[in-house]
Order: sequence, then C-alpha cells, then structure tokens
Amino acid sequence: MKTKVNIYISGILIQLFIIFFFVRINFPQSSSKEKSDAIEKKVADLLSKMTLDEKIGQLVQFSGTNDDRDELVRKGFVGSFLNIRGASEVNRVQKIAVEESRLGIPLIIGNDVIHGYQTTFPIPLAEASSWNPDLVTKAAEIAAWEAAANGTHWTFGPMVDIAFDPRWGRIAEGAGEDPYLGSVMAEAQVKGFQGDNFIGNHSIVACAKHYAAYGAAQGGRDYNTVDISERTLREIYLPPFKAAVDAGAGTLMSAFNDLNGIPASANYLTLTQILRSEWGFDGFVVSDWNSIAELINHGIAKDKKEAALKGITAGVDMDMAGDVEAGNVYLPNLKSLVEEGLISEEIINKSAERILRIKFRFGLFDHPYVDSIFFAKNIPSREERDLTALQLSRESIVLLKNEESLLPLKKELNSIAVIGPLADNQEDPLGPWSTNPIVEDVVTVLKGIREKVSDGTNVTYAKGCAIESMDRSGFDEAIKIARGSDMVIMVMGESRDMSGEAGSRADINLPGVQLELIQKIYELGKPVAVVLMNGRPLTIEWIDENIPAVVESWFLGTQTGNAVADVLFGDFNPCGKLPVSFPRYVGQIPVNYNYKSTGRPHNPDQKFTSRYIDYPNSPLYPFGFGLSYSEFKYSNLKLQKLKMKKNENTKATIDITNTGKVPGKEVVQLYIRDLVASVTRPVKELKGFQKIELKPGETKTIEFNITPKMLSFLDINFKEIIEPGEFQLMIGGNSEELLETSFEVID
Ligand code: NOJ
Repeated sequence: MKTKVNIYISGILIQLFIIFFFVRINFPQSSSKEKSDAIEKKVADLLSKMTLDEKIGQLVQFSGTNDDRDELVRKGFVGSFLNIRGASEVNRVQKIAVEESRLGIPLIIGNDVIHGYQTTFPIPLAEASSWNPDLVTKAAEIAAWEAAANGTHWTFGPMVDIAFDPRWGRIAEGAGEDPYLGSVMAEAQVKGFQGDNFIGNHSIVACAKHYAAYGAAQGGRDYNTVDISERTLREIYLPPFKAAVDAGAGTLMSAFNDLNGIPASANYLTLTQILRSEWGFDGFVVSDWNSIAELINHGIAKDKKEAALKGITAGVDMDMAGDVEAGNVYLPNLKSLVEEGLISEEIINKSAERILRIKFRFGLFDHPYVDSIFFAKNIPSREERDLTALQLSRESIVLLKNEESLLPLKKELNSIAVIGPLADNQEDPLGPWSTNPIVEDVVTVLKGIREKVSDGTNVTYAKGCAIESMDRSGFDEAIKIARGSDMVIMVMGESRDMSGEAGSRADINLPGVQLELIQKIYELGKPVAVVLMNGRPLTIEWIDENIPAVVESWFLGTQTGNAVADVLFGDFNPCGKLPVSFPRYVGQIPVNYNYKSTGRPHNPDQKFTSRYIDYPNSPLYPFGFGLSYSEFKYSNLKLQKLKMKKNENTKATIDITNTGKVPGKEVVQLYIRDLVASVTRPVKELKGFQKIELKPGETKTIEFNITPKMLSFLDINFKEIIEPGEFQLMIGGNSEELLETSFEVID
C-alpha cells in the first residue's frame, strides 16, 4: 500500500515536472511550431483540393496585366505577376484571383525593389561601403513600406552575388568581393524587407539572387558562362545565399548563367542538393526572366518542353517570363509532361506546396489587398525616410585621397567652380534599378553645394562635357569658370545605365572625354577635388597620381547632393570603406584581397614569381580602404590565449586612438589566415568588423571574440573542419595596413 502511494505521488511529481518543463521551456517554441504546423496543414488541405492545372498555375509568373491574363487568373492559371505597381491595379487583379477563381488563392506580386522604391537609397555596392548593417536594414525596411503601400508583396532582392570583376555591370547591385561582408549585408537586407516575423502589413518577401555564381561571368560580360571549382562556389559565392536563407529569406532566384556545364536554372546540385537537402530551405525558387526557356540557347534542351522538364526537375518552382509567347514554358508544358509520365505529379505538388507555404507564411490569404488607409496612417514620415537615406548616403561615401587635407573645404570660400556632366544631374545619381523614383526629388551635387556654402561664396557651374560623347565644345566654358575660381569641384563618372544588368564594360576608364577635361583643368594649377559617381570600380590611376582630393560617391540616390556636400564641407566626416578592390589597370583583374599564395608568391625583384612585368600586382585602392578627416592609430594588439583547442574561443583586443582633430567613425577589420592546411587557404579572409566612433584624442579598446567558426574551412570532401596549426590574426583599418599576431590551435 505504502509503495503504491509512493508510486502514485512520484507519478504526479513526474507529471508536474513534465508540465512545468513543457510550459516553461517548450511553450514559446511550440507556439511558433504550432504556427508552422498550422500553415503546413492549410497548405496540405488546399493542395488536396487543387486540380493539376491549378497547381501548375501557381508555378506561373507573368509580367503585367491585360484582359487575356485576367482570364487566366480567373481560371487559377497564374500564381504571380511582376511589374505591376500601384494599389489600385494590384487590388483589381487580386480581386479576380481571390473572388472569382475557384479556390480564391491570392496572387503574389513581385517587383525589383533593389535600393529603395520611391525614396532611392545608395546602390547596394555603396550601401556595402557603409559597413553599417543596421542602417542598411532600416533602408530596406523603408523600401518595404513604400513598395507594400503600392501593392508589392515580394522584392527580387537582395542581390547577393559576389563579384570581383568591375567590368561586370551588375557589381553595382551587390555587396562587392567579400563573402563575409556579403553575408552580413544579405542578412541585413532580408531582415529589413521581411521584418522580424515575416508577417506584417508593411513587410515584403525577400528573394536572394542570382543563384548561383552569376557574378563570376567570364570576362565580366553579363550573362556569360561561369566555370569555377566547387570549392570556389562553396567558399566564395554561396555564403551570402546561405546567410540569406538562415535569415529566413522566403525565396531565391535561379540565375541566367551556365555553372560548370549545367545552367543555374537547371542545376540540381545547387537548387536541390545544396539548397534544400544541405541548408533545409523550405521556401520557393523563381527563375530569372526567361532563364528556363533560355536552356534551349544554352544547348541543354531541344525545345521549350524539354526546358520545362529540366527546370522543374532541378528545383525551379516558378517560371518568370513576360507571358507564354515571351518564354513561359511551365504553363504550356508541365501538364503534358505529367500526362506522358516524364515527370511525376509529386514534383508539381512539391513546387506548388512551396509557393503556397510562402503565401500563407506571408499572410497573403488573410490580407490579400492593399489597405491604403493603413499605409496613409502608418508609413514612416517623409522626414524619417529622407533622413535615413541621408544617413546611409553619407556613410556610403568613400574618401579615396586627400592630400594635405584639401578637404574639408571652408564654406566661406570666395568662389567655387562646379564642373562635370554629373554635377547638375538628377537622373544618373539614382543608379541602376531605381524603378519608381521621383526624379525631381533628387538633390544634385550642385544644389547640395549651393545650399551649403556661405552667402558670399560665388558658385558657378559648367557641364564641360557629356558623360560619354567625344564633344569637347564645353571645355572652354569649364576652363573659364575654373580659372576665375578659388576651388574646383569636378563631378565625373558614369551614367546610371552603364552599370546594372547588361551594363558590362571592357574599358573601365572614365568614359568619353572626361579625363581629358580633368587634365585641362588640372593644368590651370587650381586646387581640384574630383567627386566620382559610378556603379563599379573605375581605373583612375592618373587621377590618383595628380588630383589632390578624390571622393567616391557611387550612386547615392535621392539625397546625393546633401550627402556629398556634407562630406566636402566637413559637416560629415567620411567613414565609408571599399567593399571591392580598385584595379590600377583593367588587365590586372581580378585584384581581390583574398587571393591564394601560389607556389611562387609575388616578389617584385624576382622574375620567376607570380607577377606582371609591366604592372604591380597590388590594386590602386585595396578592399576595406577609405580615409577620414580623423586619423586612427592602431596599437596594442593582444590575444587572450596564444594556444587553444579546436573548439575553444579566444578574444583579441586592440586599441584604436583618434589622433586627429575631429570626431570620426572607423571600421575596424579583423582578418585571419590559416598558415598551413590540407587545402590551400587565402592569404587573408575578413572574419569580423566593428564600426566605432571616437572623439579627438580618445582611445577605445575593441574586443573581437575569435570563434571556432572563424577558423574553419571546407576540407577535401567539403566538410567543415578546423585543423590544428598556426593561424595569423590581423586587425586594421583596411585589408593592407594591419597589425599582426599569431596563435596556435591544438587538437
Ligand atoms: C532580370 C534580372 O536579372 C533580375 O535581377 C530581375 O529581378 C528580373 N529581370 C526581373 O525584373
């Protein structure tokens, strides 16, 4: 009896214990699990009611609406549109899907919201120059608000392609050459677009693109073949995609390019094996525009039917194209492929399931329409949007040269000549992929300067030349105003369509006669500052050698002129750092900082080493480089442990002092090199950074946590490992000027 009571009591205690643990520890998890279980159930229920045609319909995306397409929506044969903007048109076509189609499945409307919707932020390459992920998240959040207010549910961004080749115009759309910085920026943008919990009336679904390795196009020519090793694919090109997936990105876009013999939009290794099996991605993949039909041009499909078969079996869920005539191959072919037994219906089910999952997860079934009243009340104010754009623009500017502290300029100068085809220009500062800007809102550099200087300063302007033409007829006027001024500011560079998609260049000098004009003005002997506006690193050796002050402003968007003037006149101390190396000469490409040693490392004095006989190996400006009006001294690099086990953490500390006269921000960069490993390792890899602010004379001790993850690499079988041995640790303000120390990892 006594034992029975004891057993009974201990049974109750165990139950209480379980309840306690269940409620205390597991409840929060189970609530998000419950939510995802509920979504899975809704997806399965809906799928079970759908005909094969309706399931295929979810896999179809068309560009723009018309009467024929309305009819297809009514039948449930379209799952998504792109290039529809504006609440009323989106609500109109959505009403057909929700209220007139048999199952009422909402459409998901996608658009390219790359660096802003209406408020245009700096191009992504510039945003990456800020090394400020929080600001980048904020910008993406504002872009999401504006896009969502206009009916966009889904952006084709972030573009997370790593690129070291400045000939490739699309380098402008990404975060540059480094997989770590690229991953940080990918995560920052996904968080901004999608919000924390993915649902929210003002969030939009993110799409990491272009999967994969699109940025490795041979010769930097857009759409060109990519032939890289699986190691390079995994070490360099995939990490930002993985970061986007880990941050919860709902979708990915399969790229145009051939990837090691199998085009990216038919590549089972990347689309299914790596993305789904290895990374556990449960969202959907949309093709890039026509990229499934283009499998025919790649020569791996004899017709559209075979292209559809290859796309769907590799793992591309949705076919993006103008319409069927323009290249959609899923709508007309998937049904017959199933009926003929060439693919199973299960493959279609899986793709439809992934698309429906995202539509449910995003809350589209509950909120299919744009609620304009909600947006009118809640969208961040104009002031807040402009201020974020201004802050990010300022931080994106990189000061490349500043001899004898020519900058910042005094606002009280007597006279300033502003010269160049980009100085009084509202279109080009928007950069590529700015799809809904209000051009009249763009502040030009000329306007920014005029508003900044004192009342007594005489600012004159001459265009001097066009961006690309060979016409020199404007030179005389430019020379005249320069001659009569105390200071010359030249705003030079590229037009917005010289970079971005289909914007590859074989010559990356300043186009047209711009350099000639700079040289003519230089001959006058006046102090000259060159402000560059461009979507890629340019080759500017002559400018670097001769012009005392050079400011890289990329394309900054709406707030261009305000941000540039703030930097030129010292209201903002520049703090941007290059996310990509600048070559001296186009023939050096690639000049990325994280190269490998070779068996004959570069030695300028020895012929039989890896070098050019006519040019140095080094870039003109290295990755991570950027000047400030302050000066930062690095000292006292210390490691907590000089020897550590593979699974242990350690700490590195370093002192940074602002030895200058003004407060400034500095990006403190941490690089690591594994000195001996079973596969070759780069001479350095960025593993962390911190952006700090220091007053004049102030010293801060900065601490980096050195984790096992930072020391790992992929072994010969692509398994992540840490090998014992010596590691070099480097910290500094750019990838070349670094303090070094070393430590040993033991088993
Ligand atoms: C083609 C581009 O490569 C891609 O980046 C873009 O998202 C789509 N077109 C849709 O506009």
